[in-house]
Amino acid sequence: MFSSTPFVLCFALFLSLPLLFVFGPQILPPTRFSDDLADLALFRKAIRASSAARTRSTLSRLGTATNPKPKIAFLFLTNSDLSFAPLWEKFFHGNRHLYNIYVHADPSVKITPPGGVFQGRFITHAKKTERASPALISAVRRLLATALLDDPLNSYFALLSQHCVPLHSFRFVYKFLFRNTLRLTTMKETLSSPPVPTYQSFIEILSDEPTLVDRYNARGEDVMLPEVPFEQFRVGSQFFTLTRKHALLVLRDSKLWRKFRLPCLNVDTCYPEEHYFPTLLSMEDPGGCTHYTLTRVNWTASFDGHPHLYTPEEVSAELLYKLRESNSSYSYLFARKFTPDCLLPLMEIADDVVFRD
Ligand SMILES: *[C@@H]1O[C@H](CO)[C@@H](O)[C@H](O)[C@H]1NC(C)=O
Ligand SMILES: *[C@@H]1O[C@H](CO)[C@@H](O)[C@H](O)[C@H]1NC(C)=O
Repeated sequence: MFSSTPFVLCFALFLSLPLLFVFGPQILPPTRFSDDLADLALFRKAIRASSAARTRSTLSRLGTATNPKPKIAFLFLTNSDLSFAPLWEKFFHGNRHLYNIYVHADPSVKITPPGGVFQGRFITHAKKTERASPALISAVRRLLATALLDDPLNSYFALLSQHCVPLHSFRFVYKFLFRNTLRLTTMKETLSSPPVPTYQSFIEILSDEPTLVDRYNARGEDVMLPEVPFEQFRVGSQFFTLTRKHALLVLRDSKLWRKFRLPCLNVDTCYPEEHYFPTLLSMEDPGGCTHYTLTRVNWTASFDGHPHLYTPEEVSAELLYKLRESNSSYSYLFARKFTPDCLLPLMEIADDVVFRD
């Protein structure tokens, strides 16, 4: 038999729901963007689980010499079909124990799940995404939380879109990301403090963008203050690869998120997802970030905020080699944007060019 008190309480809550619809719009400003209850519950659960997992792994490391290998979580953010699924399938082939895939697909668009490695990897609570709104940030937070919760071995979180393609083999990507991490913590370090990852997030963080002032004021003058002074406002590529520590940092943040989710008054200078992550990470842990992205994009002759879109005629071995080149001591690992019909020419050069390294 159950006590009647919770029942009465539920009933009262149920009755008050219609009141919320009547008075809700008057209480809350209409365009304000906020996390819904399902999102908040997911974020809290991910934060709690990660803290518990960290304690467990610290303890278990004391007893065993054979730690399982870290994994990469590939986070696909899409509002159309995953046209390059066959190419990604080839990329992932043979590495099942080293990665997980998560797809946030806009539910307002009819998307055909590609099956294969993407089978069952569409997250269930995805929401509509659109430009010039904080919806893309929310979608990324949802992906990060899902991946954090799903597998404690997820150690890097690579954000990609349906227009992204790999420029190297999985083995190359894995070795590159974890090249500094396989260093063993000594017994003394493990006992005195939690293990400190020696690896960094790959996220572009820039402060010299010509339209930065307009972008800073997109929500109105001074509204970002005092949490985000202009001197600390940053811009960077929407596509990044974060460490587990930084994925958790993003979920824990509410101070900056409260500001970045304010509606934009000027939608032409509003790209919240290009500012929130670089600003947050550069304020909280600049030394933990490389300040560059691993995803190559061509902004020459960009139009309406969109970069150059590669077509099948442009796809060649030479283009792939060129896209890998950076000005630093690393190679780009991914590139965007490609039209869906680039799949065929890309598949033709996949074995001999893309995955040969
Ligand atoms: C970048 O795009 C421009 C056209 O907008 C093109 O001429 C150029 O070749 C592209 N660069 C690379 C490296 O693909
Ligand atoms: C390298 O630097 C030059 C000059 O600053 C710039 O024009 C070019 O786009 C850069 N290339 C890459 C791949 O970042």
